[in-house]
Amino acid sequence: MEQGMEIVASRKTALLLGATGMVGRELLEQLLQHGAYRRIIAPTRRRLHLDHKKLDNPLINFDNLDRYREIFRCQDIFIALGTTIKKAGSEEAFRRVDYEYVVHAAGLAQKAGANQCLVVSSAGANSESSFLYSRTKGEMEESITSLDFWSVHIFRPGVLVGKREELRLTEKLAAGLTRAIRSVSPTLLGDYNPTDADVLAKHMIDAAQTIAPGVHFHGAGSLIAG
Ligand SMILES: NC(=O)c1ccc[n+]([C@@H]2O[C@H](COP(=O)([O-])OP(=O)(O)OC[C@H]3O[C@@H](n4cnc5c(N)ncnc54)[C@H](OP(=O)(O)O)[C@@H]3O)[C@@H](O)[C@H]2O)c1
Repeated sequence: MEQGMEIVASRKTALLLGATGMVGRELLEQLLQHGAYRRIIAPTRRRLHLDHKKLDNPLINFDNLDRYREIFRCQDIFIALGTTIKKAGSEEAFRRVDYEYVVHAAGLAQKAGANQCLVVSSAGANSESSFLYSRTKGEMEESITSLDFWSVHIFRPGVLVGKREELRLTEKLAAGLTRAIRSVSPTLLGDYNPTDADVLAKHMIDAAQTIAPGVHFHGAGSLIAG
């Protein structure tokens, strides 16, 4: 039986949303190298400059996800989509990405047969928060956990540290400050510890290989290298 499960596990298809982002790029690199997956579907709105026999990179319009039902056939869906109010241009546009695209895509994948959903949220996510960012993340978590997945893993990183194409000054300052605090006292920040994007990606992929039905939350305090 265990041998049979191994065989199925090595033939998985992963759907990755957010493959052009800081966490998404790490996820993509690690998923492509991982023996459990034979196919990675990574829909984006701008082409990935990467050729790999396991990779399928359809260009899509995220406002019309219903049109692309065939890409949602997978075992595991990994979601690292997100924007900022500044980048999106309005609170409404921010919510469209961080809530609507995420929940809609997860719902389509679940209906198409996906068993597991692994999604990046944030430290401080809380649907009752007066801050739009934390509230949106909290609402997204609640909607995702109400879907009928066999297993849901929600990751709540602190400030992300990694290879970013653009300069985000506030994020850079917060990352520098929290890293300095972590070096003095590794436990002081707890679930607000900075999180390395590559380490987060590894935790997400490892979680997808565990046999753990139900909903699981992974705080920044647990998202450490090791
Ligand atoms: N940055 C932090 O310190 C921090 C801390 C805690 C949690 N988080 C959360 O972690 C997740 C990943 O963060 P990250 O820093 O890796 O994000 P990122 O580098 O900004 O990447 C975001 C991804 O979302 C896609 N995206 C954004 N707007 C889109 C739109 N309108 N239509 C289609 N795709 C869109 C981007 O595609 P394009 O490349 O085409 O724009 C990119 O693939 C996010 O949910 C974020 O909120 C971040």
